[in-house]
Amino acid sequence: MEKPDNLIIIIFGATGDLTARKLVPALYSLYGQNLMPDRFIILGAGRTVMSSDDFRIKMDNAIRTFSEEKAPDFTNISYFLNSIHYQPVDYLQESAYHDLKVEVERLKAGFGTGGNVIIYMATPPNLYEAIARNMSAAGMVSQEDGYKRIIIEKPFGYDLESSRVLNDTLHEIVSEDQIYRIDHYLGKETVQNLLVTRFANGIFEPLWNRNYVHRIEITSAESLGVEDRGGYYDSAGALRDMVQNHLLQMVGLTAMEPPSSLDANAIRNEVLKVFQSLQPIREEDVEKQVIRGQYTASRIRGECVPGYRYEKGVDVHSRTETYVAMKFFINNWRWGGVPFYIRTGKRLPTRVTEIVIHFKQTPHHLFQRVIGHSWGNQLIIRIQPDEGILLKFDMKEPGSGFKVKNVNMDFHYKDLADIRVPSAYERLLYDVMLGDSTLFSRDDEVETAWKFIEPIQNAWKNNPSIKVYGYPAGTWGPEPSNSLIEGENLTWRYPCKNMADEELYCEL
Ligand SMILES: NC(=O)c1ccc[n+]([C@@H]2O[C@H](COP(=O)([O-])OP(=O)(O)OC[C@H]3O[C@@H](n4cnc5c(N)ncnc54)[C@H](OP(=O)(O)O)[C@@H]3O)[C@@H](O)[C@H]2O)c1
Repeated sequence: MEKPDNLIIIIFGATGDLTARKLVPALYSLYGQNLMPDRFIILGAGRTVMSSDDFRIKMDNAIRTFSEEKAPDFTNISYFLNSIHYQPVDYLQESAYHDLKVEVERLKAGFGTGGNVIIYMATPPNLYEAIARNMSAAGMVSQEDGYKRIIIEKPFGYDLESSRVLNDTLHEIVSEDQIYRIDHYLGKETVQNLLVTRFANGIFEPLWNRNYVHRIEITSAESLGVEDRGGYYDSAGALRDMVQNHLLQMVGLTAMEPPSSLDANAIRNEVLKVFQSLQPIREEDVEKQVIRGQYTASRIRGECVPGYRYEKGVDVHSRTETYVAMKFFINNWRWGGVPFYIRTGKRLPTRVTEIVIHFKQTPHHLFQRVIGHSWGNQLIIRIQPDEGILLKFDMKEPGSGFKVKNVNMDFHYKDLADIRVPSAYERLLYDVMLGDSTLFSRDDEVETAWKFIEPIQNAWKNNPSIKVYGYPAGTWGPEPSNSLIEGENLTWRYPCKNMADEELYCEL
């Protein structure tokens, strides 16, 4: 694999959770594989006043704690840590960026990194515009001496209007091809494998359309609650935090037409076309097509877990959704009439993200079933955990007669013992260093996705009578979400049973 050119990575918000959990451990993994440039500097920046030595100690702990390697090797960690520096910055003070520039120039000269710079915004999103403007005012985004690339983290705005404002502001400072909007789901191996599964195999693509597919279901479930991010989450909710970005991107890759090449824009153009074909949900239909819920206190394996409204940082009267399920259609030749169902939630029974392609049934049932009904074949693409692909199909039960049983053909990435699956951030950071934007969201994709979400946001804002259903923590979400699925006896796929105890009552 190619070694990127020398560079400096400036991380704003470097004292935060994302830098410690994901970014620096991912960069260390790349370093361990000899995939970092020969000369590089990681410059942390934040309001917190600390020395580079203190920051190095913090990052040393972070790497040791959050490394995603199966057998992490820390032998060379001190060499890597030598490349880490820290500069206190008050994000809103223009003068602070002059000090930052002086430090960048000093590091550039001292370590011979050259003028390539990646600017990672790992701060709360309301600071992105100010940081970009101040960097520009300090003359730090000029590309005269090397590329300048900006990475931003979701949420990319909180509605259509604010995402346009954010894009317009960034475009005043840098061009679109310098902006990398990270969606870490796209960094996952199985999401990328979706393209290979579809477009490298002759057997799937001919069936991948309205003639053979009955419905498509995408689930992204988390078993945890909001943890210590209640303050952020209460102002975001599942629709903004998950649906607008991760889930719609998975819809895009599942439903897109074959791209003409693997060029970043060829792929992103096809995803955009899917978003443009989403049948708008009218405000008056939101109640029927979109179910929102909020987890309530419950018992999971004998332990009480608090309801969402009693989490730290959350308003006790909050109506923020921790669960969303929705049904919609894609109005194009491939998918006309095929329902798409997506759902996401916190405090569900397990952590799982999967795409389920439900194929239509055979036109005539010849065989007796051993257990229950068959509702056709399912191809299940497991994004996390235990990445892989599962095909469910019917087989004859051994013995007399023609009794049929549903069985699995199951592929797990982990079975490829000799293949290392890189973490999403590792893959995405490496791609930014190489200037490959295939796995990043483009401005028009983001805005079109917001346009689809907007009527839902408006309906919830303008019509408080639309219910926020409670669901006990550890269950698969509110009961009315089942009524979204069209067809007799059809339900969501439940990868595991409810985790909540039978006795759900809890005094929290
Ligand atoms: N954590 C994750 O796994 C994750 C996943 C997906 C997306 N994200 C996104 O990535 C970004 C960073 O996430 P994070 O979890 O690292 O955030 P964080 O820990 O809440 O904040 C990062 C840093 O930003 C600074 N900061 C926090 N609140 C601030 C405020 N009100 N005003 C000014 N500075 C403030 C703090 O550094 P100083 O006080 O030192 O300046 C803090 O250490 C966010 O936009 C988040 O939405 C995070």
